Order: sequence, then structure tokens, then C-alpha cells
Amino acid sequence: MKILVIGDIVGAPGRRAVDELLPKLVDRYYIDLIVANAENAAGGLGLTPEIAQHLFNQGIDVLTSGNHIWKHKEILPYLENNHRLLRPANYPPGTPGESYTLVETAAGEPAAIFNLEGRVFMSPLECPFRTADRILASFPPDLKVILVDMHAEATSEKLALGWYLDGRVSAVVGTHTHVQTADEKILPGGTGYITDIGMTGPLLSVIGMKKEIILERFLTQRPQTFKVASQNIQLQGVVITVDAQGRCQEIQRLQVPLKP
Ligand SMILES: [Fe+2]
Ligand SMILES: [Fe+2]
Repeated sequence: MKILVIGDIVGAPGRRAVDELLPKLVDRYYIDLIVANAENAAGGLGLTPEIAQHLFNQGIDVLTSGNHIWKHKEILPYLENNHRLLRPANYPPGTPGESYTLVETAAGEPAAIFNLEGRVFMSPLECPFRTADRILASFPPDLKVILVDMHAEATSEKLALGWYLDGRVSAVVGTHTHVQTADEKILPGGTGYITDIGMTGPLLSVIGMKKEIILERFLTQRPQTFKVASQNIQLQGVVITVDAQGRCQEIQRLQVPLKP
């Protein structure tokens, strides 16, 4: 089975990259399951029901998210009612939305996806490691294909989670920093791993936002209204090949430019 995981989709440029590039990638790599992080898909911060629906209509099977999912209030009822949009699982009890989902893939095998958020340089949520234990314990024993989106800032926390789940899930992929790392590997227990799969959006930017505004913020130390940049748009992510036992056979980074 081949799984395409798309890095944080940033605003309209990121959505355009998905619209135009996704059909070609599905054909080229024989993709059976598409997962994308959508926490920045609406104007660079958050997600709206209309945009979530648009992304599902493009063929994405599951949307994961992260710390920015709460930006637009109208997403809360959608999170409650749509089980293919995930929020990180380690928020407090009573948080709206699903923390994991089970889907039937184009390959005919079921797959489970769950989303966690890191705690280093981020909000003090529940322990992502123990949350992963709890979710895995709830899965049927014959479920083989399991993908984890670890939405976190610190490389150390993501890598530690990769080791913690090695041999228990098919892959742990990092999101949130918007900068793709070149450390993709298969851990000894058969779990695919990469610290960050990158961003789908404009690269001539600071993590998707107009660089002039971000520079102003650093130079003045005053808050600024961020605006999504527009140039050098790429779709970034990984293609993960998983065998019948759910073990990762290959993890390949993607950086696909959108032709202007
Ligand atoms: Fe993000
Ligand atoms: Fe984030």
C-alpha cells in the first residue's frame, strides 16, 4: 500500500498546489491513501468547513491538524460531525473532534490514522506518548496499517516518539515546522520516520508568510498581521510504502513545484 502524506497546506497557494498536483501524484505513485495536514489551509491559519470539504473533494481521505485548528470557530461543529478531520489526540477530555480514524483504503485494506501534538515549546497538553499507548490499545489486533502525524516543534520530541512507537505503527511523520527535514529513515522495528514532511505553500516566505511582515515582527518585537506569501509554490510531503504486515518498506520525500 502506498500512502501520500501532504505537509501543512498553507492558504490559497497551498490549496492551488493540491488542486493542480494531486491527481498527477496519485497516478505517478499509485497512491492508495492520501492524508494531509490542514491546520493552515484557511488564510494561513486554521480551517473552515468549506475549505475542509474542498480538500476532501480533491480526493484527500483524511485531514490532520494541529495547534492552529482552533482559529475559526465554525470548524468546531464540523470537527464533531466529520470523522475524517482529526485534531491532536492529547487535548483535554471534552475537546471537540476525533483523535483517530479508521478508513478503508483504495488497496482494500483498512488503515488507522492519528494525530498528536508536542509539548516542547508548545501548549502543556496531555502526554503524547501515553496518549499514543491508549489509542493503540483500543485498535483491533489485526489492524496492520497505522500512520501517526506528530505535530510538534522540537526535533527531539518527534524523534523520541518515533523510537517509542517503532514496531507498533507503520510510520511516524512530523508536521508543524513547515521546513522539510532530510532524515527520512526506517527504524529497526519497521516504522518509517521523518522529523518534518514540510509545507505545501509558497517557499519564498518565512514558513508560508510574507517575509517582510515577519521581519518587521522580529525587528520591532510588536505583533503584526500575517499575510500568506505567493511565490515559489511547492507541494511537499512523503510517499510511504507499507507491506501487508504494516511495516514500512520505503519512505520517499517529495518537493513538487507548481509551475507558474
Ligand atoms: Fe502548520
Ligand atoms: Fe502547527
